[in-house]
Amino acid sequence: MIELQDVEKIYRTDRIETVALANVNLEIEAGEFVSIMGPSGCGKSTLLNLMGLLDVPSEGYVRLAGESVESYSDRRLSRLRNQRIGFVFQTFHLIADLSVVANVEIPLLYRRMRGRERRQRALAALEQVGLSSRVHHFPSQLSGGQQQRVAIARAIVGEPDVLLADEPTGNLDSSMGDEVMAMLHDLNNRAGTTIVMVTHDERLAGRTGRTLRLFDGRQVN
Ligand SMILES: Nc1ncnc2c1ncn2[C@@H]1O[C@H](COP(=O)(O)OP(=O)(O)O)[C@@H](O)[C@H]1O
Ligand SMILES: [Mg+2]
Repeated sequence: MIELQDVEKIYRTDRIETVALANVNLEIEAGEFVSIMGPSGCGKSTLLNLMGLLDVPSEGYVRLAGESVESYSDRRLSRLRNQRIGFVFQTFHLIADLSVVANVEIPLLYRRMRGRERRQRALAALEQVGLSSRVHHFPSQLSGGQQQRVAIARAIVGEPDVLLADEPTGNLDSSMGDEVMAMLHDLNNRAGTTIVMVTHDERLAGRTGRTLRLFDGRQVN
Protein backbone atom coordinates (compact mmCIF):
# COMPACT_ATOMS: atom_id res chain seq x y z
CA MET A 1 0.00 0.00 0.00
CA ILE A 2 2.84 2.38 0.88
CA GLU A 3 6.36 1.88 -0.40
CA LEU A 4 9.46 3.99 0.21
CA GLN A 5 12.63 3.26 -1.68
CA ASP A 6 16.02 4.79 -0.82
CA VAL A 7 14.29 7.84 0.58
CA GLU A 8 16.28 10.81 1.77
CA LYS A 9 14.86 14.11 2.99
CA ILE A 10 17.07 17.13 3.46
CA TYR A 11 15.75 20.48 4.66
CA ARG A 12 17.86 23.31 3.29
CA THR A 13 17.84 26.88 4.47
CA ASP A 14 20.41 29.59 3.57
CA ARG A 15 22.86 28.49 6.18
CA ILE A 16 22.05 24.99 7.34
CA GLU A 17 21.23 21.62 5.93
CA THR A 18 19.30 19.17 8.05
CA VAL A 19 19.25 15.55 7.02
CA ALA A 20 15.82 14.58 8.35
CA LEU A 21 15.75 11.12 6.76
CA ALA A 22 18.45 9.02 5.15
CA ASN A 23 18.32 5.72 3.30
CA VAL A 24 14.79 4.74 4.31
CA ASN A 25 13.39 1.61 2.70
CA LEU A 26 10.07 0.21 3.77
CA GLU A 27 6.89 -1.36 2.59
CA ILE A 28 3.57 -1.29 4.37
CA GLU A 29 0.95 -3.77 3.21
CA ALA A 30 -2.75 -3.04 2.91
CA GLY A 31 -4.51 -3.69 6.21
CA GLU A 32 -1.43 -3.33 8.44
CA PHE A 33 -1.39 -1.28 11.64
CA VAL A 34 2.16 0.04 11.99
CA SER A 35 3.58 2.30 14.70
CA ILE A 36 6.58 4.60 14.35
CA MET A 37 8.75 5.37 17.37
CA GLY A 38 11.92 7.31 18.06
CA PRO A 39 13.20 10.34 19.97
CA SER A 40 12.04 13.86 19.24
CA GLY A 41 13.55 15.24 16.03
CA CYS A 42 14.44 11.84 14.56
CA GLY A 43 12.24 12.32 11.49
CA LYS A 44 8.92 10.69 12.41
CA SER A 45 6.68 13.52 11.21
CA THR A 46 8.81 13.96 8.11
CA LEU A 47 8.33 10.28 7.33
CA LEU A 48 4.58 10.49 7.85
CA ASN A 49 4.33 13.60 5.66
CA LEU A 50 6.16 11.80 2.85
CA MET A 51 3.84 8.79 3.18
CA GLY A 52 0.88 11.15 3.05
CA LEU A 53 2.15 12.95 -0.07
CA LEU A 54 2.23 16.23 1.85
CA ASP A 55 5.91 16.57 1.02
CA VAL A 56 8.31 15.05 -1.49
CA PRO A 57 11.61 13.28 -0.81
CA SER A 58 14.93 14.89 -1.78
CA GLU A 59 16.03 11.51 -3.14
CA GLY A 60 14.29 8.20 -3.69
CA TYR A 61 10.71 7.20 -4.35
CA VAL A 62 7.37 7.02 -2.62
CA ARG A 63 4.62 4.82 -4.01
CA LEU A 64 1.06 4.85 -2.80
CA ALA A 65 -1.22 1.99 -3.81
CA GLY A 66 1.19 1.12 -6.62
CA GLU A 67 1.15 4.65 -8.04
CA SER A 68 4.55 6.26 -8.61
CA VAL A 69 3.77 9.81 -7.65
CA GLU A 70 7.04 11.62 -8.39
CA SER A 71 5.79 13.06 -11.67
CA TYR A 72 2.35 14.02 -10.37
CA SER A 73 1.21 17.64 -10.43
CA ASP A 74 0.14 19.27 -7.16
CA ARG A 75 -3.45 19.03 -8.28
CA ARG A 76 -3.22 15.31 -8.96
CA LEU A 77 -1.46 14.75 -5.64
CA SER A 78 -4.21 16.64 -3.83
CA ARG A 79 -6.85 14.49 -5.44
CA LEU A 80 -5.02 11.28 -4.57
CA ARG A 81 -4.58 12.50 -1.00
CA ASN A 82 -8.20 13.46 -0.69
CA GLN A 83 -9.43 10.10 -1.96
CA ARG A 84 -7.00 7.72 -0.32
CA ILE A 85 -5.53 9.24 2.81
CA GLY A 86 -6.87 10.49 6.12
CA PHE A 87 -4.75 12.48 8.57
CA VAL A 88 -4.97 12.83 12.33
CA PHE A 89 -2.69 15.20 14.25
CA GLN A 90 -1.69 15.60 17.89
CA THR A 91 -3.41 18.98 18.16
CA PHE A 92 -6.62 17.93 16.37
CA HIS A 93 -6.61 20.82 13.83
CA LEU A 94 -10.36 21.34 14.01
CA ILE A 95 -11.86 24.61 12.78
CA ALA A 96 -13.10 26.47 15.85
CA ASP A 97 -16.01 28.33 14.31
CA LEU A 98 -17.48 25.33 12.51
CA SER A 99 -19.77 22.84 14.23
CA VAL A 100 -18.64 19.26 14.74
CA VAL A 101 -20.60 17.97 11.75
CA ALA A 102 -19.40 20.81 9.51
CA ASN A 103 -15.79 20.00 10.44
CA VAL A 104 -16.34 16.37 9.49
CA GLU A 105 -17.83 17.34 6.12
CA ILE A 106 -14.73 19.28 5.04
CA PRO A 107 -12.93 16.52 3.07
CA LEU A 108 -16.12 15.88 1.12
CA LEU A 109 -16.29 19.49 -0.06
CA TYR A 110 -13.52 18.65 -2.51
CA ARG A 111 -15.59 15.93 -4.12
CA ARG A 112 -18.64 16.31 -6.29
CA MET A 113 -21.29 15.42 -3.77
CA ARG A 114 -24.61 16.92 -2.84
CA GLY A 115 -25.05 18.64 0.50
CA ARG A 116 -27.51 16.09 1.76
CA GLU A 117 -25.20 13.17 1.04
CA ARG A 118 -22.28 15.02 2.61
CA ARG A 119 -24.29 15.53 5.75
CA GLN A 120 -25.41 11.89 5.87
CA ARG A 121 -21.87 10.62 5.51
CA ALA A 122 -20.58 13.00 8.16
CA LEU A 123 -23.29 11.89 10.58
CA ALA A 124 -22.44 8.24 9.88
CA ALA A 125 -18.75 8.89 10.57
CA LEU A 126 -19.65 10.65 13.83
CA GLU A 127 -21.80 7.70 14.82
CA GLN A 128 -18.84 5.43 14.19
CA VAL A 129 -16.75 7.38 16.70
CA GLY A 130 -19.58 7.55 19.23
CA LEU A 131 -20.35 11.26 18.92
CA SER A 132 -23.88 11.29 17.54
CA SER A 133 -25.05 13.33 20.50
CA ARG A 134 -22.53 16.14 19.86
CA VAL A 135 -22.92 16.92 16.17
CA HIS A 136 -24.06 20.54 16.61
CA HIS A 137 -21.54 21.39 19.32
CA PHE A 138 -18.44 23.43 18.59
CA PRO A 139 -14.95 22.03 19.16
CA SER A 140 -14.31 24.20 22.25
CA GLN A 141 -17.34 22.62 23.94
CA LEU A 142 -15.78 19.14 23.78
CA SER A 143 -13.13 17.33 25.81
CA GLY A 144 -9.76 16.62 24.21
CA GLY A 145 -10.68 12.99 23.66
CA GLN A 146 -13.94 13.99 22.00
CA GLN A 147 -12.14 16.53 19.79
CA GLN A 148 -9.73 13.85 18.65
CA ARG A 149 -12.68 11.59 17.86
CA VAL A 150 -14.13 14.38 15.69
CA ALA A 151 -10.76 14.60 13.94
CA ILE A 152 -10.85 10.83 13.36
CA ALA A 153 -14.38 11.09 11.96
CA ARG A 154 -13.15 13.81 9.60
CA ALA A 155 -10.20 11.62 8.59
CA ILE A 156 -12.39 8.61 7.78
CA VAL A 157 -15.46 10.30 6.30
CA GLY A 158 -14.08 9.87 2.78
CA GLU A 159 -13.35 6.18 3.42
CA PRO A 160 -9.59 6.41 2.88
CA ASP A 161 -7.43 3.33 2.37
CA VAL A 162 -4.77 4.77 4.65
CA LEU A 163 -4.97 6.64 7.94
CA LEU A 164 -1.84 8.50 9.05
CA ALA A 165 -1.82 9.59 12.68
CA ASP A 166 0.95 11.79 14.14
CA GLU A 167 0.98 11.28 17.92
CA PRO A 168 -2.84 11.15 18.04
CA THR A 169 -2.85 10.47 21.79
CA GLY A 170 0.00 12.87 22.62
CA ASN A 171 -2.29 15.52 24.10
CA LEU A 172 -4.66 13.13 25.86
CA ASP A 173 -4.65 11.54 29.29
CA SER A 174 -4.23 7.78 29.27
CA SER A 175 -7.92 6.86 29.47
CA MET A 176 -8.83 9.17 26.59
CA GLY A 177 -5.77 7.89 24.74
CA ASP A 178 -7.00 4.32 25.21
CA GLU A 179 -10.39 5.33 23.85
CA VAL A 180 -8.83 6.82 20.71
CA MET A 181 -6.61 3.78 20.33
CA ALA A 182 -9.60 1.44 20.57
CA MET A 183 -11.23 3.43 17.81
CA LEU A 184 -8.19 3.04 15.57
CA HIS A 185 -8.08 -0.70 16.20
CA ASP A 186 -11.76 -0.96 15.39
CA LEU A 187 -11.23 0.89 12.11
CA ASN A 188 -8.28 -1.34 11.24
CA ASN A 189 -10.20 -4.53 12.06
CA ARG A 190 -13.59 -3.72 10.61
CA ALA A 191 -12.84 -1.53 7.58
CA GLY A 192 -9.36 -2.95 6.95
CA THR A 193 -7.96 0.58 6.86
CA THR A 194 -4.15 0.64 6.76
CA ILE A 195 -2.93 2.70 9.72
CA VAL A 196 0.45 4.27 10.41
CA MET A 197 0.71 5.93 13.80
CA VAL A 198 3.55 7.88 15.39
CA THR A 199 3.64 7.45 19.15
CA HIS A 200 5.93 7.92 22.15
CA ASP A 201 4.02 5.32 24.13
CA GLU A 202 5.61 1.84 24.10
CA ARG A 203 2.42 0.41 25.51
CA LEU A 204 0.34 1.65 22.57
CA ALA A 205 3.03 0.68 20.05
CA GLY A 206 3.01 -2.82 21.54
CA ARG A 207 -0.58 -3.21 20.48
CA THR A 208 0.12 -2.50 16.81
CA GLY A 209 1.15 -5.13 14.27
CA ARG A 210 4.74 -3.91 14.12
CA THR A 211 6.89 -0.97 15.10
CA LEU A 212 9.31 0.97 12.90
CA ARG A 213 12.06 2.66 14.88
CA LEU A 214 13.96 5.74 13.78
CA PHE A 215 17.09 7.32 15.19
CA ASP A 216 18.64 10.43 13.65
CA GLY A 217 16.70 9.95 10.43
CA ARG A 218 17.67 6.32 10.00
CA GLN A 219 15.76 3.12 10.46
CA VAL A 220 17.11 1.07 13.32
CA ASN A 221 15.21 -2.14 12.63
N1 LIG B 1 10.35 22.49 7.59
C1 LIG B 1 11.55 22.21 8.13
N2 LIG B 1 12.63 22.98 7.87
C2 LIG B 1 13.84 22.68 8.39
N3 LIG B 1 14.07 21.64 9.21
C3 LIG B 1 13.03 20.84 9.51
C4 LIG B 1 11.71 21.09 9.00
N4 LIG B 1 10.86 20.12 9.48
C5 LIG B 1 11.62 19.32 10.24
N5 LIG B 1 12.91 19.75 10.28
C6 LIG B 1 14.04 19.08 10.99
O1 LIG B 1 14.09 17.74 10.57
C7 LIG B 1 14.33 16.88 11.67
C8 LIG B 1 13.18 15.87 11.80
O2 LIG B 1 12.00 16.56 12.19
P1 LIG B 1 10.62 15.82 12.46
O3 LIG B 1 10.32 14.92 11.33
O4 LIG B 1 9.60 16.85 12.78
O5 LIG B 1 10.96 14.94 13.76
P2 LIG B 1 10.01 14.20 14.80
O6 LIG B 1 8.61 14.21 14.26
O7 LIG B 1 10.59 12.83 14.93
O8 LIG B 1 10.11 14.95 16.10
C9 LIG B 1 14.52 17.77 12.87
O9 LIG B 1 15.88 17.99 13.05
C10 LIG B 1 13.81 19.03 12.50
O10 LIG B 1 14.36 20.13 13.15
MG1 LIG C 1 6.85 14.98 15.05
